[in-house]
Amino acid sequence: MAIKHYLQFKDLTRAEYEYLFERSRVIKDRFKRYETYHPLVDRTLAMIFEKSSTRTRLSFEAGMHQLGGAAIYLNTRDTQLGRGEPVEDAAEVISRMVDIVMIRTFEQEIVERFASRSRVPVINGLTNEYHPCQILADIFTFIEHRGCIQGKTVAWIGDSNNMCNTWLQAAEVLDFNVHVSTPPGYEVEPERAGLYGTDHFESFADPMEAVKGADLVTTDVWTSMGFEAENEERLKAFADWQVDGDMMRAAKAEALFMHCLPAHRGEEVAAEVIDGKQSVVWDEAENRLHTQKALMEYLLLGRIND
Ligand code: CP
Ligand code: NVA
Repeated sequence: MAIKHYLQFKDLTRAEYEYLFERSRVIKDRFKRYETYHPLVDRTLAMIFEKSSTRTRLSFEAGMHQLGGAAIYLNTRDTQLGRGEPVEDAAEVISRMVDIVMIRTFEQEIVERFASRSRVPVINGLTNEYHPCQILADIFTFIEHRGCIQGKTVAWIGDSNNMCNTWLQAAEVLDFNVHVSTPPGYEVEPERAGLYGTDHFESFADPMEAVKGADLVTTDVWTSMGFEAENEERLKAFADWQVDGDMMRAAKAEALFMHCLPAHRGEEVAAEVIDGKQSVVWDEAENRLHTQKALMEYLLLGRIND
């Protein structure tokens, strides 16, 4: 089988996502029934972190153990990557010792360079540009609560960051719409987002207009990892882009609220929203585990019929 990497959302087709969502459901159901499922015995996952993480580390590490394999945590501070070893050299070495690699880093180019020299599948665990594993979990969560996402409207409020770019790619692959509202100067850059066109998204200057008719309202931190030097100016620029109760009331009555976490209550989201009835943020976080187990199984074993 040819090596398959997961570096951005559009690396997989709609048919592959349909398979992964169904597989995530099966794997989650077995996990909830405490059924042992060990398809990845003797397989090892290397997890390389150049940025902080709670959910991504935990879900990949626990997920690999639950599938019968082992996971090794590496970070920039304790490895030669932090001392300037070329990423290509690291890829050659690491991919001779493990079966699958997950990387969280800065520029997308770094995961692409790693993948180009890797003998094993590479998964993007977040870059400045994309966060595909999170959107995989988010769409699975949407499906669990509301059914198929095709034709639905997602409102993205805030920064046109890695999460926003990935929602936009997902809209093209799975055929739904994204209403985006960002402050001036922080607009979507379609090329950086890796889009084929502009058919699946619409930009709105006013966030209250963007949420109208939305089936899902979602946001993320105003300052992503790696952009901390811009924090003060971003706090001012994004002040009118907080998702609050008024914004949720302007969306469809049954709209869900999502946030990949970690969240800042009182900044990008009001406490009444993230802690309110429409919020599914804990399901989103849990589903990182189940969807990534399905993803690792697929990248290593292909389609399973059981
Ligand atoms: N949502 C997410 O990726 O969380 P972590 O940064 O904690 O991994
Ligand atoms: N956009 C955020 C997501 C964190 C999970 C960041 O990159 O910091």
